[in-house]
Amino acid sequence: MDLNQKVALVTGGTRGIGLATVRLLAEQGTKVYMTARSQPSEDLQAYIDNTSNVVFASMDIADADSVQQVVNQIIETDTAIDILVNNAGITKDMLLTRMKLEDFEQVVNVNLVGTFNVTKAVLKGMQKKRQGAIVNISSISGTNGNAGQANYSASKAGIIGLTKTTAREGIRRNVRCNAIAPGMIETDMTDKLSDKIKTSIEESIPAHRFGKPEEIAQTVQFLIENEFITGQTIVVDGGMTI
Ligand code: NAI
Repeated sequence: MDLNQKVALVTGGTRGIGLATVRLLAEQGTKVYMTARSQPSEDLQAYIDNTSNVVFASMDIADADSVQQVVNQIIETDTAIDILVNNAGITKDMLLTRMKLEDFEQVVNVNLVGTFNVTKAVLKGMQKKRQGAIVNISSISGTNGNAGQANYSASKAGIIGLTKTTAREGIRRNVRCNAIAPGMIETDMTDKLSDKIKTSIEESIPAHRFGKPEEIAQTVQFLIENEFITGQTIVVDGGMTI
C-alpha cells in the first residue's frame, strides 16, 4: 500500500513508539490522526500545529463509546480510515501470586479489549472500501512470557490471536492485519526501570542495547506497504528471544 494521501489512526500516538510512528507516516504523506487519552504536551502541540497532516484526537481505547465517536468523526471528515496502528498500551507489573485481580483486568482491558474496540470500530469501513492495513503492537512478553507480567503478557498474547483472526476475516475484503512483538525499546515505559536493571537487561540482549522507537515505526511502515503479508507477528528485539 502506498502511504501517500492515505488516512491513518494511531492509538497512543503522543509518546514513544506511537509518536515515532505518527512522525514516520506523516513524512510519507499520510494524514495521521494521533490519538491518546491525555492531551499533548506543549512541545508536541507545537509539532501538531506545524504539521498540516497530523491531527490530534482524544480517545480512551478502553471506552468503546469514545472510540466509536472519534472513528465516526474521522469518517465524516475523510470518508475512510486506510491504516490503523493499535499501539496504546500500559503495564502494571507484579509477580502473579501478588497481583491484584483488578490490575490483571485493567491491563487486559486497555491492551487487549482496547485493541478489539478500535479494530471493531475501524474494520467495517475498511472492508466496505476493500482496502486496509492494521498493525497491532504486541510484545515479546506475549510471545515468550515474562516474570512479573502475567497481566501484560496475557494481553499481548491475546493480541496475537486477535491479529490472526482479524487477518482471516479481513483478507476476504483486502484488509490485512499483522503484529509486531518488540523487545526492550527506549521509551517512557522502560524508563521506569532502575539503571541496574536496564544494564542487566542490555547485557542479555545480543545487540547489547535497547531498540529505538523509530526501529519499530520502520517495521510498521514495512507491514503497511507489503501487500502480501498478513496474520504474521514480526519480532523486533535485537536477538533477545533467539
Ligand atoms: P508509552 O508508555 O511511552 O506510551 C503509551 C501511549 O499509550 C501513550 O501515548 C499513552 O497516552 C497511551 N495510552 C495508554 N493508555 C491508553 C488508553 N486507555 N487509551 C488511549 N491511549 C492510551 O509506551 P511505549 O513504550 O511507546 O509502548 C507502545 C506500545 O508498545 C505499547 O502497546 C507497549 O505495550 C508496546 N511495547 C513496548 C515495549 C517497550 O520496551 N517500550 C516493548 C514491547 C511492546
